[in-house]
Amino acid sequence: MAQELGIGVIGMGWMGDLHARSYLQVPVRFPDAAAVPKLVICADEFAARAERAQRAYGFAEHTTDWREVVDHPAVHVVNVTTPNHLHREMVAAVAAAGKHILCEKPVGRYPEETVEIAAIVARSAVNSHVGYNYRWIPVVQLARQLIERGELGDITHYRGQFLEGYAANPNAMLTWRFKKDIAGTGVLGDMMSHSIDMAHMLIGPIERVVSQQETFTDTRPLPVPGEGTHFSVSEGGPRGPVENEDYVGALVQFANGARGTLESCRIVMGEKFGLTFQTNGTAGALHWHGERMSELEVYRMEDEAERDGFTRILTGPRLPHHAAFTPADALPISYDDLKTIEMYEFLEAITAGRPSVPGMAEAAAVAEVSAAMRRSWESGAWEDVVPLG
Ligand SMILES: NC(=O)c1ccc[n+]([C@@H]2O[C@H](COP(=O)([O-])OP(=O)(O)OC[C@H]3O[C@@H](n4cnc5c(N)ncnc54)[C@H](O)[C@@H]3O)[C@@H](O)[C@H]2O)c1
Repeated sequence: MAQELGIGVIGMGWMGDLHARSYLQVPVRFPDAAAVPKLVICADEFAARAERAQRAYGFAEHTTDWREVVDHPAVHVVNVTTPNHLHREMVAAVAAAGKHILCEKPVGRYPEETVEIAAIVARSAVNSHVGYNYRWIPVVQLARQLIERGELGDITHYRGQFLEGYAANPNAMLTWRFKKDIAGTGVLGDMMSHSIDMAHMLIGPIERVVSQQETFTDTRPLPVPGEGTHFSVSEGGPRGPVENEDYVGALVQFANGARGTLESCRIVMGEKFGLTFQTNGTAGALHWHGERMSELEVYRMEDEAERDGFTRILTGPRLPHHAAFTPADALPISYDDLKTIEMYEFLEAITAGRPSVPGMAEAAAVAEVSAAMRRSWESGAWEDVVPLG
């Protein structure tokens, strides 16, 4: 008999909505799951957003006071999907209430804050999960397995990118993502964090970095509070200053000796979802691009000489989690489906009493690399990745 777990969600924007509908999908997609989520209460500071989410997803209650979510006796798991500046206070309150936490990345505004939040959670008895959802793409999991099994030999090179144009239009609105007091860092936390997490999962820890950053668009139109998303654009009207970086690039060295580059930008023209990796080993190579999320290019030295070249492997039910969405080969699963997998994996870890991965420990590891990049922006030199806090 599956265990029922009460779910609360705080912050009903893009992610809050997605978390809510992903929980609804868990029993549909994973009928043998050990836990069945029950949507108990959602919160947003704007009553209209909380009300709409209650109606759309069938939460039993809604509120404008996030503490009611934390304190609700029927809630066992709290999802923190508000902007970054609220994560510390909210996660600390959830941990103090003894409830499990699914917090969106990058967790804190700055690397030090992420590590501080991870330490608060580590001192409590609760389980945690962080929204590094791109790990769950079935062909990315295949890439991980191929590397782990040594099919690429020793890894020598890794190149990871997350390039997007969501802010390429200079009239893309000045949402919270561009503000230091709310977001903290710019693409370092927003997008580079995903690339670092992906590199950690595939290749292992990063030991040292040398990095640079740039802000290419200095001002943007002011948004209307409570309206729009971070993809909204406005013509005319007052503008305000962009306070954090549009671009981060880095050379990196992994603990296993592999050399690499990581690059993230939110204002590139052309790329729409340029989350990518390319890796080379002594016996093979892999190429993956997020705009073709269901395809992995595999090169293996041992393939016959006349077929020397990359082979395109398509997603399919033989790969992790794919069959939960479709029994057919090659039919892609979606970004939203990755969140359903995330919720399923988190609830399975809770019921099994094992730490969920990626959790706060993995987010802290990403933060330590991010901190070394920030130090390198100041020093202009290679910086070691060291424990923070
Ligand atoms: N994993 C991913 O792929 C991914 C993608 C996008 C965003 N994120 C992360 O998710 C988080 C939220 O991002 P988003 O794009 O959903 O933002 P958003 O602006 O769309 O939504 C944030 C919501 O929080 C609400 N809110 C603000 N203050 C509140 C308060 N005090 N109490 C209750 N609600 C409050 C806002 O009204 C808004 O509805 C961020 O940490 C972001 O980095 C992760």
